[in-house]
Parts: sequence; C-alpha cells; structure tokens
Amino acid sequence: MQYFKEVSVDQFLDFTEKKFPFLYQILKKEHFTTEKIEWLLSQIDSFDFEENPKGGRGGDYLSEQIKHPLNRYVGFRQLFDLIIGDNDDKKELIVLDAMGGNGTLHKASELLGYNHLKIIISDISSAMIKSAFDQNIPCIRQPAQNLLLKDNSVDAVVFAYGTHHIPAEERHTSFKEAYRVLKEGGKLLIHDYEEGSKTSEWYSDILDKYTYTGHKYVHFTKQELNTTLSEIGYSKINVANIYDPFIIEGSTQEDARKNMLNHLVNLFGMRKLKKEEFTEQEDFYKRVEGLVDQCFDFTKEDQGKEIEDILAVKKTTIYSKDIGKYFAEVPRIALIGVGEKAKTKLKVTEPI
Ligand SMILES: C[S@@+](CC[C@H](N)C(=O)[O-])C[C@H]1O[C@@H](n2cnc3c(N)ncnc32)[C@H](O)[C@@H]1O
Repeated sequence: MQYFKEVSVDQFLDFTEKKFPFLYQILKKEHFTTEKIEWLLSQIDSFDFEENPKGGRGGDYLSEQIKHPLNRYVGFRQLFDLIIGDNDDKKELIVLDAMGGNGTLHKASELLGYNHLKIIISDISSAMIKSAFDQNIPCIRQPAQNLLLKDNSVDAVVFAYGTHHIPAEERHTSFKEAYRVLKEGGKLLIHDYEEGSKTSEWYSDILDKYTYTGHKYVHFTKQELNTTLSEIGYSKINVANIYDPFIIEGSTQEDARKNMLNHLVNLFGMRKLKKEEFTEQEDFYKRVEGLVDQCFDFTKEDQGKEIEDILAVKKTTIYSKDIGKYFAEVPRIALIGVGEKAKTKLKVTEPI
C-alpha cells in the first residue's frame, strides 16, 4: 500500500528505523496497518497542497521554499526561541511540526544554528512529505487531528504558517492531540493570522482571487486561541502578535524587488496572474506590488501600540547590508498562541 508518493508503509518504517531511531521509537507501530492508514488518510482532504497536475499549489510551494529556505527567518527565529525558552543548556528537544510542508522549519533550524532542535516534519500532503523524505528530513504523513505518535513523546508541537487550513470545528481536536503527544512541561505553539487583520486579507481576498484552489479559510481570533487552549488544559497561555516579514535578497536593488515579487506569486501559487499576459513585464511587477501594498502597507493607518512597536519596517523596503547584497522586506504581522502541558503534581501522602 502506498503511504505517500512512491513510498509504502513498510519502506517508510524501514527507512525511519535505520535513519531516525528517535522518531521510530515514538511511532504508534500498531497503527501502521494497511486498513488503519487507508482509513486515516481518507478522513482528510489534502488537495490544496498536492502537486499542480491535480490543481493544488503544493508543487509551486515546495520548489519556491527550497529556493529561499530563509524567506521568513525573522518569524522562524522567534518560534525557535519560544520553543527553547529558558532551556539554555542546549538540551536536545524533539519538536513536531504538525503542518510542516516539505521541511521549512527543519531546514531553517539547521541554517540558523538551532541544531539541538530535532524537528520532525509532519503533514497530510503526499507531495510535501515525499519532498521532505527525499531530502532526508525526519518526517511522517499524518493529519494533525489524529497523530500516529505515542502519548508524552515530544517536547514541543508547532502549528505554523497554515494553521487556518484546519477547519474551525477540528481545531480543538487537533490541539488536544498535541496535548496528548506532548511530554509534561512540553510546549504548544500556534502561529497564524488574526481574523479581520490586514495580513489575513492577503489570504482571504488576494489568494482567494488569484489561486486556482481559492482560499476560503477562517483565521484565528485572540479569544479563540485563549479559550481553546485553556479548555484543553494548557497552562501558561500567552497570545500575542509577532513581526513576521518576508525577506528576499538580490544583487541589486531592482533584482531584490523582482525576486521578492516573483517569490510571493510563486510561493502562493497565484497562477491566475500570468506574467505573459502583460505587454510589459514592468506592468506585471507593478500589479503584484499593488496587491502587496493593499495588505502589507502599515503606513496608511494607525495600527495601535502593540503592532506599531514591533514593526521593523512599515511598508515594503529595500536596503543593503553587505556590499553587493540587497534585501527586499515585506512587513507582516502574525498571531501566536503558546501554552504548556502542566507537570503533574506529585500526590503528597499523609504520614501515618
Ligand atoms: C501553507 S503550507 C505551510 C507549510 C509549512 N509550515 C511552511 O511554512 O512551509 C500548509 C501545510 O499544511 C498542511 N496541512 C493542511 N491541513 C493539514 C492537516 N489537517 N494535517 C496536517 N497537515 C495539514 C498542508 O498540506 C500544507 O503543507
């Protein structure tokens, strides 16, 4: 039986046992039977992030992410620092990236020097997991709603850059699954965008219009994150905005500008916006720039103190740090909710 593209359940288990014993050890092996896996995969629609021939935007996404692995490094760093917290002795931490795509956070952790984070990429898309598998990244194909991992087995679970793809009515179940697999004292991080914010318009208006998959997903409210996490039993809950820009480099100012605009169109699979249909290429870039400014220009109105304080730039800015290197930065604000699985208190027995 095919578990993901060209890889059977047995091949996956053999490979993982040899290559990533730390992941093999925490798999619920009894769930890796043909019937159980077929049933599990039939429960979730992974169409949006499968490859292009099927109409999904997975192919565009994974090749663009491979080209620019640190496109969101400011956000990545903040996630890693939150996972680590005050674990400054660099103890190894096992992290489940529950909607990990083709390995974004795993690769970024290595490139940014967070080598003590052992990030397992988990995703429902066959194309995404095949790409992670081919890059030798510890990975597992499973829905966030129903994980194939043992109880109390990981130090952190991250839901990032796409959590809105989990239907609103299944979010509670998914964060509860995370609670089950977390060790006591382990952390849950949920990253998404605030419903109704300028950033969420990029998804609900622009992507909905220019992708073939559309983008009819509801984002998160602060209240929803707070309530859901506390209902499940998480402690030390904190919900806040973070600055999470796109940053892309180029050899000249103009090169950085065009690289950024091409990157956004490709990463988000905005295939209805066809460069070849513009008489002048510059008209294409101006059109994309207009869409970016619609959602990521924070100069137009007062954003309130919490957001104003964290914006490093307020609209697309191109700057140079080293000779011959220019960076285009598109500001974006994300919402992040953090919670901890409380440690069980030892029962104190009364002295006889
Ligand atoms: C926007 S992509 C982001 C991938 C990755 N986090 C990144 O930043 O590159 C969202 C991912 O969530 C995955 N996904 C959607 N629903 C899921 C579910 N219920 N369980 C696991 N993965 C899911 C998709 O297949 C897709 O790869």
